[in-house]
Amino acid sequence: MAALALDPKVSGVLEELHRKSRRELPSLVGYFLLRAIPRWIRWQRSPEIDEQAQSFLSDKLIALAQDKCEFCYLMCRSIAARRIVEVGSSFAVSTIYLAAAARESGGEGALVIGTEIDSRKVAFARRNLERAGLSAFADIRLGDARRTLLDVEGPIDFVLIDSWIPLARPMIEMLAPRLRRGAIVVCDNTGQFSKQYRDYLDYVRSPENGFRSTQIPYRGGLELSVRC
Ligand SMILES: C[S@@+](CC[C@H](N)C(=O)[O-])C[C@H]1O[C@@H](n2cnc3c(N)ncnc32)[C@H](O)[C@@H]1O
Repeated sequence: MAALALDPKVSGVLEELHRKSRRELPSLVGYFLLRAIPRWIRWQRSPEIDEQAQSFLSDKLIALAQDKCEFCYLMCRSIAARRIVEVGSSFAVSTIYLAAAARESGGEGALVIGTEIDSRKVAFARRNLERAGLSAFADIRLGDARRTLLDVEGPIDFVLIDSWIPLARPMIEMLAPRLRRGAIVVCDNTGQFSKQYRDYLDYVRSPENGFRSTQIPYRGGLELSVRC
């Protein structure tokens, strides 16, 4: 945290949230391992988020890892991103980094448009942004990203896709026409779940779709795509 030298109000909230997120890891791993065993026996390895899992995850942050958050922050600063979209805001850990970057980029309308399907999480996200002093730089929309982001106008500078895997491909297809040239799209865990992300990776790695893309070797992998 100190390396980024974010303002103390922001880094105080982030330290607390990252600590909480790290603490929930053993229960997440345990839960998904137990659910995975019957699938492994049937050779179906895809992680499914059904209603039961969604309810288990409802009070979990499942936040983007700190090093990846810092990377997104620096990418946003590097391109002076002012219009930022996030798919999957949860408790707003990554959103706080993106909103801090939007604030630094400055100018009228500097904003993160985030979306989250779980109403409890939206309430926490808004509160955390407020505590960090960043409410003015984030608009967290409650609902399914396929609907809540329909009216987001371009040009978009930066997108973070950090939601359930099946949403990644429809999201990139929906947002691609609104990305400015040089815009950056980041998608989490594309290495760990490369098979499940196949349709997404096929899209961003096909130059005819207007992207150049590579995987950053963070834990789990982080796909970085640039709109060309
Ligand atoms: C990995 S978490 C996001 C973590 C967040 N980016 C952070 O770093 O704090 C993924 C989130 O996506 C949300 N989500 C899942 N499907 C969604 C959908 N269709 N629309 C909006 N949000 C969705 C989940 O409820 C979950 O909170």
